[in-house]
Amino acid sequence: MALLEVRALVKRFGGLVAVNDVDLDVEAGEIRGIIGPNGAGKTTLFNLISGALKPTSGTIRFDGKTVSGRKPSQIARAGLVRTFQRNAMFPTYSVLDNVMLARHTQKKANLFKAILGTDRKDEERNLLRAREIIGFLDLSEFADELARNLSHGHQRILGIANALAVEPKLIMLDEPVAGMNPTETAMVTGHLRRLRDEWNMTVILVEHDMRTVMETCDYISVLNFGEKLMEGDPGQVSRDRRVIEAYLGSEEIDL
Ligand SMILES: Nc1ncnc2c1ncn2[C@@H]1O[C@H](COP(=O)(O)OP(=O)(O)O)[C@@H](O)[C@H]1O
Ligand SMILES: [Mg+2]
Repeated sequence: MALLEVRALVKRFGGLVAVNDVDLDVEAGEIRGIIGPNGAGKTTLFNLISGALKPTSGTIRFDGKTVSGRKPSQIARAGLVRTFQRNAMFPTYSVLDNVMLARHTQKKANLFKAILGTDRKDEERNLLRAREIIGFLDLSEFADELARNLSHGHQRILGIANALAVEPKLIMLDEPVAGMNPTETAMVTGHLRRLRDEWNMTVILVEHDMRTVMETCDYISVLNFGEKLMEGDPGQVSRDRRVIEAYLGSEEIDL
């Protein structure tokens, strides 16, 4: 059984079918890319899986449980967590405090309680783990820096740290390297691969940029006009005529 199972998923916006009868099986420990030209339905699919949108029909199962129709917070507690485009959760707090707050708010959905704290042993464990996450993502030197003072790239990586703070099994990212320079892009994709290799994380990378997906993902699902066009490894996808035509139809191709 796959960690994530999407079946016959449909999302309509009025007369427009943004996601049309999509099936998806993501195995534990893989980095899955979801690509497609602009308007293909990637973000809609992402929002359906994370619970931000409710499907018109179809089911989503995660880790053996049906999660379609659940709230994002419930889905996050089940172990499926997304990163947010907005960079830092709490821009005026330090990097370390951001990760600590992310741990608390997700666990209790109660910021007030979070600030009051629980017992001391718990707090020590939380602090150790937060430092571990920050270290894993090479943010240790910024631990005490206010989130808003980080570079754009590091703020995005803090977003990943905040997602990891809730100890997910699967982390989902929508265009995490958009607007990044090549150095920052390599930093993020390197972290994603290490998360898979060293922490056994399952990753879903929704990304318009072909090159990033080809270099990072084990397996790729291609969307076009809301439908799954094909799936395969990076070699298969980059050679597939339908994929090339889908991208050519909409814009410049860069393979
Ligand atoms: N909230 C919405 N209301 C109406 N139409 C939407 C909404 N969100 C997305 N769409 C439409 O659904 C289609 C897929 O959009 P989207 O999922 O954002 O594609 P992608 O992320 O692949 O660029 C597009 O035609 C878009 O205009
Ligand atoms: Mg999108």
